[in-house]
Amino acid sequence: MISAPDKGRFITFEGIDGAGKSSQIAAVVELLRARGIAVEQSREPGGTPLGERLRDLLLHEAMHLETEAMLMFAARREHLSAKILPALAAGTWVVCDRFSDATYAYQVGGRGLAADKFKALEAWVHPGFQPDLTLIFDLPPEIAASRVASTGVDPDRFEREQRGFFIRVREAYLDRAAQAPERICVIDADRRPELIRAELAALIEERWFS
Ligand code: TYD
Repeated sequence: MISAPDKGRFITFEGIDGAGKSSQIAAVVELLRARGIAVEQSREPGGTPLGERLRDLLLHEAMHLETEAMLMFAARREHLSAKILPALAAGTWVVCDRFSDATYAYQVGGRGLAADKFKALEAWVHPGFQPDLTLIFDLPPEIAASRVASTGVDPDRFEREQRGFFIRVREAYLDRAAQAPERICVIDADRRPELIRAELAALIEERWFS
């Protein structure tokens, strides 16, 4: 008898700008592929042609904070139906740079969007659906800011925000983690990349392969 293929897992990476997610995402994707798992890597806002166009607007165009929140969720709606859900249904794992926890941290925490409005959008766009595992890269905003500055790349609309904004974003991430400790792991990102990589590998091993 052939059993139905297992559903893929959905892993998301979060943290304030400059937390060092990118190289760790690549390492996790590589680690999973080395196990023979099909993996799709994606990002938010973005992940689809429409989502990438919305990303361009979101990162560079000034707008009302509620417009910002709704566009984040509009891009997410498209991303879910065009990419994330079909991949998971086919048994492909999806590793995504940011998801709804980022909207909670940046739009509710950072910008002051009413939490009820966030909850309403979340319940509309993905009722009952959350990542299987979320890794929040946590570090002091001043260290993150110096990392962003050292890239030499022109900062986007979010990266140009003041320290107080990132303090609030960080707090909102930690608050979200406390609300869902089974799903969300807070990673100390103020460490050498090799140490972080080893912690992520151990965490994934323990969760799914031991
Ligand atoms: P990111 O891809 O991490 O930026 P970069 O390419 O510079 O590494 O994220 C883009 C920005 O979008 C980031 O500053 C956080 C912000 N963002 C929100 O404010 N809300 C959201 O829901 C998402 C997904 C991202």
